[in-house]
Amino acid sequence: MKSVNVGLCGLGTVGGGTYRVLRDNQAQISARAGFPINITHIGMRTVKEGYDYTGITVSQDLLEVTIDPNVDVVVELIGGYDLAKEIVMSAIENGKHVVTANKALIAVHGNEIFAAASKKGVTVNFEAAVAGGIPIIKAMREGLVANKVTSLAGIINGTGNFILTEMRDKGRAFEDVLKEAQELGYAEADPTFDVEGIDAAHKLTILASIAFGMPLQFEKAYTEGISKITAQDVNYAEELGYRIKHLGVAVKRENGIEMRVHPTLIPEKSLIANVNGVLNAVLVNCDAVGQTMYSGAGAGDTATASSVIADIVDVARLVGTNARPVPHLGFGEIDDSIEILD
Ligand code: HSE
Repeated sequence: MKSVNVGLCGLGTVGGGTYRVLRDNQAQISARAGFPINITHIGMRTVKEGYDYTGITVSQDLLEVTIDPNVDVVVELIGGYDLAKEIVMSAIENGKHVVTANKALIAVHGNEIFAAASKKGVTVNFEAAVAGGIPIIKAMREGLVANKVTSLAGIINGTGNFILTEMRDKGRAFEDVLKEAQELGYAEADPTFDVEGIDAAHKLTILASIAFGMPLQFEKAYTEGISKITAQDVNYAEELGYRIKHLGVAVKRENGIEMRVHPTLIPEKSLIANVNGVLNAVLVNCDAVGQTMYSGAGAGDTATASSVIADIVDVARLVGTNARPVPHLGFGEIDDSIEILD
């Protein structure tokens, strides 16, 4: 039986988690995929100790993974824009499927990347780019395929939610909790992406494009973070029966789509007000099913690895059966005439 060979680029928080979960659950994952899945190549700028590299090619030039003829799927887990884009474009150019957890890359360069992938007949899977371990991309593209989405809203930055929760529950200082989020591997390499709402806007851009079948337009999302929220704000909200949550919201209006991320006052009894710590939650409102809500770990090594591996399994089935990749965005045709409202 054909083995599906994975080339991993990056062995940081998510890369390390992916290595460990794949190794620990390999027999089960391969059985469920229907094909044996093996990591055969790892690219990392500095070779990490504590991993068993037996049978694995190790490269410090990450682009070497993308041209390895034995690799079927390149898994980009380095984050950032420039090298990540080079890796993804080179993999596509070399006819390889791609899995990425990189929301910044997809939100900003996704239109170009998906066009190149479609031309080559390969897929770029990005489940781990939004809401960590929650299978929200699969839910939207597959589970909700029968529906028209009318709106969606969610807590889509784990670091921010962790900070707001700890400020409220334990009276901790913003900077102190942010430091812990960095130590726990939740925060972005540049944590201003978390606290200024940029990371959430990247994720909202992706969700909205899938929901409404439109091109990715990150630059048009209204973006406001939590960096100006004080202990006093948190306490006042509590006194009034509300909680402050940082939400990403996309709403279909008559003349276009509203796309915004900002702190919001939520009544304390509502479900989403009780999504705490690093957890994320996404509410999706649709015409046929009504409202559905998805929640789970929004960041962290093995939680995010869970989504990365789900994508690898999907790709393994494509490779193993020579099937045709599904469209990258939307439930069908992409409409580039849809307005994003100010
Ligand atoms: N920094 C991100 C977060 C990581 O805290 O949600 C997961 O995308």
